Amino acid sequence: MSTLHPVSAAFAAGSRIDKTTYARDYAESVHDPDSFWRRIGRRLDWIRPYSKVKDCSFEADDLHIRWYADGELNLAANCLDRHLATRGDKTAIIWEGDDPSESRRISYRELHADVCKAANLLTNLGVARGDRVAIYLPMIPETAVAMLACARIGAIHTVVFGGFSPDSLAGRIADSQCKLVITADEGLRGGKKVPLKINVDEALQRPGTNSVETVLVVKRTGGAIAMQAPRDRWWHALMDGQTAEHTPVAMSAEDPLFILYTSGSTGKPKGVLHTTGGYLVYISYTHECVFDLREDDVYWCTADVGWVTGHSYLLYGPLANGATTLMFEGVPNHPDSSRFWQVVDKHKVTLFYTAPTAIRALMREGEAPVKKASRASLRLLGTVGEPINPEAWEWYWRVVGDGRCPIVDTWWQTETGGILITPLPGAIDQKPGSATLPFFGVQPAIVDANGAILDGAAEGNLVITDAWPGMMRTVYGDHQRFIDTYFRTYPGMYFTGDGARRDEDGYYWITGRVDDVINVSGHRLGTAEVESALVAHPKVAEAAVVGCPHDIKGQGIYAYVTLKAGEPPSDALRKELIGWVRKEIGPIATPDHLQWAPGLPKTRSGKIMRRILRKIAENAPEQLGDTSTLADPSVVQNLVDERLVK
Ligand code: WT7
Repeated sequence: MSTLHPVSAAFAAGSRIDKTTYARDYAESVHDPDSFWRRIGRRLDWIRPYSKVKDCSFEADDLHIRWYADGELNLAANCLDRHLATRGDKTAIIWEGDDPSESRRISYRELHADVCKAANLLTNLGVARGDRVAIYLPMIPETAVAMLACARIGAIHTVVFGGFSPDSLAGRIADSQCKLVITADEGLRGGKKVPLKINVDEALQRPGTNSVETVLVVKRTGGAIAMQAPRDRWWHALMDGQTAEHTPVAMSAEDPLFILYTSGSTGKPKGVLHTTGGYLVYISYTHECVFDLREDDVYWCTADVGWVTGHSYLLYGPLANGATTLMFEGVPNHPDSSRFWQVVDKHKVTLFYTAPTAIRALMREGEAPVKKASRASLRLLGTVGEPINPEAWEWYWRVVGDGRCPIVDTWWQTETGGILITPLPGAIDQKPGSATLPFFGVQPAIVDANGAILDGAAEGNLVITDAWPGMMRTVYGDHQRFIDTYFRTYPGMYFTGDGARRDEDGYYWITGRVDDVINVSGHRLGTAEVESALVAHPKVAEAAVVGCPHDIKGQGIYAYVTLKAGEPPSDALRKELIGWVRKEIGPIATPDHLQWAPGLPKTRSGKIMRRILRKIAENAPEQLGDTSTLADPSVVQNLVDERLVK
């Protein structure tokens, strides 16, 4: 039984949304979504006001998702220009460097000027509305400027996390046919340099990437890199020559804003495409309600801009709301594990949003590093990315928040654009480990294996039965894959890929992915991606990858590898293969365990039985279940005997 953390009277008193408002507005939002979202849509500045609001169908043969379709707006103008009159001198971005001695405050006026210059710069380089731009940058202010400049001219950005390998970067550039890449000489994280420009040089030698005409390079560390004329240009040199006047391009609400690649259960990562109007309405409204935003808040989301959290809740949501958002270049344990709390005190952070994996890692260091800082400014805490175990939740609440700050456990996905299930801090009592109740306009349901909707307390697969404005519109270049992945399993419903339980109070408890996706430290990885990296090695015949429990990361990566005939297994080869995957995909895909498998458990039709491999990786060989359909049951005993976690 979990402890209930009721909304405190003190928090409820001044909050934006109380219990009564939540009940009333939620009812309106699902009974009359058109009038609800018509009203909420007015929070933005529209160049041409919309007359239409919701126009959506989840039926596979008539799938369409359109919001505010005849409206026109510009996202960057909503994040910048409209704040200038009242908030020109307000800090838009607080930048905290990797090194604690480095930080900067950038006002809305300054950010606006830089974005206008960058918009002119991109235009002068031949980037036009609809062109794709890859952004492979560290957590520096130029990243925000680059993204907003794309939005301002109507170019579609695709941000690639700086931890991805040259191959992963190349795959994304090739799939979206980018015209321009924006990168930095090097990144800096935890005192270590990340060779971004070198990675770009390598990526652009891969097939399919010759759409790239220009590489813009931001100078971050001054490290030695090769500039290749005429392709490579210095950002600062070109920015200097631009004017700070620029008229934002009027975009249709359904024009694409960005593509973000994410892993699925099969094949290559897919390009999740988000559009402009509905997305900005949805993320700005969720950001305001979920974090109970006030004018003088200092908001800090620790996610990297390379993930959707960085798009929606580090940059676009907060800036659309005229908030002060903190961008942190570094890592939680550099120079020591008190860093997060030192930054909280230094910049008087009031709203703090991070991932369960970070909380678990810091929890292991004990309370002292937290207590070294006062944290008196904090008034609300949030988590995202994976289920949070109740122990970590209670520690976050008691130690970090001194028992004073509500916690919002926000469930959502790259595909959903914004938060779908979450407590509203002044309205919804919290239960540690539960994302609680749906946001306005969101209609979750739990279905059984046959797609029947289950009522009351139930456990099954999580679906969403109707559209919300912030959801993805397609898989870039592959609309069929969009339909097949999300709308075929349960016809007429959006399938999340997550399992969930709903308790007697209607609260949702996300139990994790039910497909072949693993969640490592809040980052999604397809087991198929890791497997194809492994079999690309000349000595590997076959590989199967599953998730395994991991104290800090939530899930770790457990790989079973069959070597080609005549290749002897060795510790050196194991190391080599682990390093190989790291190099092929990026450090986040580094296998935690790699077990030699003389044979893999397969059905007579040749399908690998992952259920069995998962149980072995979980060190639960007594739960293997029915193995009678195996082609060769003897392979299992060997894998059980040689398992790496006992
Ligand atoms: C998957 C989506 C949402 C932005 C970051 C991750 C898991 C996410 C929670 C949560 C339990 C969660 C789900 C989801 N997940 N938030 N609060 N509680 N699980 O985005 O990489 O698209 O991953 O992360 O399994 O499907 P993503």
